Amino acid sequence: MTILAIESSCDDTSAAVMVGGEIRSNVVATQQVHEQYGGVVPELASRAHQQHLIPVVDAALQKAGISKNDLDAVAFTQGPGLLGSLLVGGMFAKTLALALGKPLIAVNHMRAHILAHFIEAPRPAFPFLCLTVSGGHTQLVVVRSALDMEIIGQTTDDAAGEAFDKTGKLLGLPYPAGPHLDKLARQGNPKRFAFPVGTMPGYDFSFSGLKTAVLYFLKKEMAQNSDFIQENLPDLCASIQHTIIQTLLRQLRRAAHDQGLTQVALAGGVAANSGLRQALQDEAEAQGWQVFIPAFQFCTDNAGMVAMTAHFQYQAGDFANQLVSSDPRLKL
Ligand code: KG4
Ligand code: ZN
Repeated sequence: MTILAIESSCDDTSAAVMVGGEIRSNVVATQQVHEQYGGVVPELASRAHQQHLIPVVDAALQKAGISKNDLDAVAFTQGPGLLGSLLVGGMFAKTLALALGKPLIAVNHMRAHILAHFIEAPRPAFPFLCLTVSGGHTQLVVVRSALDMEIIGQTTDDAAGEAFDKTGKLLGLPYPAGPHLDKLARQGNPKRFAFPVGTMPGYDFSFSGLKTAVLYFLKKEMAQNSDFIQENLPDLCASIQHTIIQTLLRQLRRAAHDQGLTQVALAGGVAANSGLRQALQDEAEAQGWQVFIPAFQFCTDNAGMVAMTAHFQYQAGDFANQLVSSDPRLKL
């Protein structure tokens, strides 16, 4: 079975080819245009998807050594994401499926982040607990099978990636700030500054208090010393990162304990964070968990994870038709 998958939910245009459950190619074009605005500009994202999509699909097919006529299905990200971005990928996939007379598969982006764990070994066994942390989402999900998932906790305000990006912006770091903050944090003292760990009932998360606390703290310090950020950047980064990680781990620990799950998976772009990866490994040792983190290229937005999800949906006979519409708020 050969599937072409397309991902265009936010600011990365990606196409992947999967043959018999194996990834043959996974091409991603990242949009640079948003950097100067300090965040993703939806209208510009849609236009960049239009420019990138055909070259990215061609590259994915070529890399996989596959012609369009070899395809058994065309998959695309239906949602959640930015409507304009989703529409570009969705329209393309629908048109291609119609022209080739092949089935169409509509994939949920958040499920795809989770099922990225099945692209390569080691793969978790069902059931497992997955913490999905990206620029748009923070979710704790009990994964009972490839098709049966339940959100037990989620953010009530900012996503974990946004917490990195917004606090990093306050420190003057370029967008997206997450990777820059991670790098600087490695040379800093995480205990130097104490910021509030977001506490929520159940398994939910909150990060808006951290952003506000950092903002007021910096304002106060900068009033006395205008070089404060410059002089303390690594310690500030390490302390902020430490707080975000503690906020995530607190709920993860609680959920794993209550649900009786010992297999813990990390998904989404923030899974690239070196501090979070290390903290999770340490926690795993203390709790007797088995931890799963996909390779970096399958953590950030990519069509490989969409192809993997489509593979499971194909086996279950879960196909879409030409009336399917992109849904920016698609539920898990
Ligand atoms: O999953 P993703 O590629 O896109 C979304 O669906 O949002 O995640 C992007 C997010 C951004 O907020 C980015 O700052 C964050 O992941 N990120 C990181 C790191 N690498 C990417 N955050 C912290 N540390 C990193 N190393
Ligand atoms: Zn994503």
